[in-house]
Amino acid sequence: MTEINPVTDLTLEGDVAVVTLNSPPVNALSAAVRDGLHQAFRKADADPAAKAIVLICDGRTFIAGADITEFGGAMAGASLPEVQDAIEGASKPVVAAIHGTALGGGLEVALCAHYRVAVPSARLGLPEVNLGLLPGAGGTQRLPRVVGVETALSMMTSGRHVPAKEAKELGLVDELVSEDKLREEAIAFAKKVVAEGRPLRKIRDQNEKLEAAKGKPEIFENFRKANARKFRGFLAPEYNIRCVEAAVNQPFEEGLATERKLFLELMSGPQSAAQRYSFFAERQAQKIPDVPDDTPTIPVNKVGIIGAGTMGGGIAMNFANVGIPVVLIEVKQEALDRGLATIRKNYERTASRGGITAQQVEERCALITGSLEMESLADVDLVIEAVFERMDIKKDIFTKLDAICKPGAILATNTSGLDIDEIAAVTKRPESVIGLHFFSPANVMRLLEIVRADHTSKEVIATSMKLAKKIGKVAVLVGVCPGFVGNRILGQRQREAQKLVMEGAMPWDIDRVLYDFGFPMGPFAMSDLAGLDIGWVKEKSKGESIRDVLCEMDRRGQKTGAGYYDYDENRNAKPSPVTEKVIKDFIVKTGANPREVSDEEILERCIYPMINEGAKILEEGKAIRPSDIDVVWQNGYGWPVYRGGPMWYGDHVGLPKVLAKMKEFQAKMGDQFKPSPLLEKLVAEGKSFKDL
Ligand code: 3HC
Repeated sequence: MTEINPVTDLTLEGDVAVVTLNSPPVNALSAAVRDGLHQAFRKADADPAAKAIVLICDGRTFIAGADITEFGGAMAGASLPEVQDAIEGASKPVVAAIHGTALGGGLEVALCAHYRVAVPSARLGLPEVNLGLLPGAGGTQRLPRVVGVETALSMMTSGRHVPAKEAKELGLVDELVSEDKLREEAIAFAKKVVAEGRPLRKIRDQNEKLEAAKGKPEIFENFRKANARKFRGFLAPEYNIRCVEAAVNQPFEEGLATERKLFLELMSGPQSAAQRYSFFAERQAQKIPDVPDDTPTIPVNKVGIIGAGTMGGGIAMNFANVGIPVVLIEVKQEALDRGLATIRKNYERTASRGGITAQQVEERCALITGSLEMESLADVDLVIEAVFERMDIKKDIFTKLDAICKPGAILATNTSGLDIDEIAAVTKRPESVIGLHFFSPANVMRLLEIVRADHTSKEVIATSMKLAKKIGKVAVLVGVCPGFVGNRILGQRQREAQKLVMEGAMPWDIDRVLYDFGFPMGPFAMSDLAGLDIGWVKEKSKGESIRDVLCEMDRRGQKTGAGYYDYDENRNAKPSPVTEKVIKDFIVKTGANPREVSDEEILERCIYPMINEGAKILEEGKAIRPSDIDVVWQNGYGWPVYRGGPMWYGDHVGLPKVLAKMKEFQAKMGDQFKPSPLLEKLVAEGKSFKDL
């Protein structure tokens, strides 16, 4: 064996040279990896004893992409195109042997090999779009030549990781090999290629699949139209599409040049910077300074959930989806039956769209059993309480759980803002109590706020973080405070949105500004969707707010065909003259003085107080780091990924500007806008949140 460099080995196995990369954790294409590959391929190519070359990786995966940490800095060592030329231009067949994931630059390297084999569990994809980028190493030109234009467009704009079996059907993989025999079967495949005298197949020369799309610009236009909603606000999908257009309309080398130009444009732009930041922010959030990776965890093999409503049912599905049995507790049989029926209906809907099979529907439903007895929770490892937001009810439940559950079981509450220390105090085991705040619909939304109370043990935190990953959630550890991180910050935006209406902005003006900023919908459209009557009590309503008046008129949101907006039979929203009159009458009644409110003011009034609240949360230690707040807002509240999150956005608008505006608002409107001392301090020191 020859060590080419610390991350690359070259061995000769019979007459096959094997280049092995070993650069944990994901064999990303760092300078060392590129150098190692470059040298190893040149050496193997020059070795007359080697008749073919296999490229394989040690560790958990094939190359998972370019090394994102190198982006933005100067590139050292061999360039990726140089490495690719050495592979594609080799004078003997090159076989890429794929396990784990071949992603981004990793797949682009594999596409330069003359053949590819993969184990069945492998996945292949070009996920650059999720980093606000496009595949910048020939992927946009080679992929459509292999899989065709439409499939390439869909793979590149979704970033989907295609399973090996499908990749084989698409022609991306030539042969599937045994799961635990990748190395030997890849070598055998290489020998077969040599024995059969197969050609040095270069994807760059294959143009047949492109022919079908030549002279048909409507393919691209239709694709753009069909996905307009999904791509709204993002630059990268459009740039990916343009590269595939170039693949069809330009010769290979020109297409590469177009790809390069557009790649560099995206790379130097603000969207990709925010999206790359988000990638690392999500991973950073998993690291808890005082809960090291080797903290022991509690095995969770059975879960209990109290409350079979929308929330409890959604939470239950998360566990059933990964094979963990769930007992669902309700007080009344009727509610339990309804909850279980809703779960089945949700699974059946997923199956009807092809998401899961009919058999999986049955398997998952069978994992969720119902009970009217809290005693059924005696043997569960984790209980999640998901009942009404009432402290007295929660305390009662936790007192019972303390008596029923086995020692060591985790007792969690799904409260969205109540004091978890107060709940924990009714038990004799506050170390086992934690908040697991799911977001509705709980089977869909990615965010999980994990709320650490004063006495929560490290084992319980580590277990919760690990479990979140298992059920596909993005977990963020936060501290106990009213509304925790997400809802506490939301409160700022909601307050300002309501005030702005009283000052003369219409709900649809505010919604439009926030929608254009990139949120999926504004606060008033959101209220209409959720129902204006959440928390509204008809008997007690005295027309004291615009919401009260609308509810009293039975304008309770989409479900009644009207709320802040009017809705047609397809639930399309229109600004409502009725609501406008209600607002104007209300303003007169309260003696307020309406005025012209600019879009700029709407945005600043809604967003800057959120940034300020984030600063207060950091000051109080309720979030570990600014990027955790951004992860919460992206994954739980629809903050546009290409704007990073409130804290990232604050840094990029400039904290001096945010501070100056908060002071201006404070002077005009009072202490709700009082700047946080942390914001003041950072500005005084010329720093930003990223410096914390
Ligand atoms: N560059 C640098 N570091 C990377 C990386 C990359 N491409 N991919 C993953 N890592 C790091 C992560 O930050 C993490 O580091 P940490 O342990 O210090 O937090 C570690 O590797 C493990 O990553 P995950 O926690 O995400 O591990 P998983 O097993 O859950 O997932 C994965 C593995 C599916 C490979 C996932 O990490 C992933 O999706 N990576 C990004 C893949 C990607 O986007 N590739 C394209 C890069 S851009 C490109 O190639 C441009 C080219 O076209 C020129």
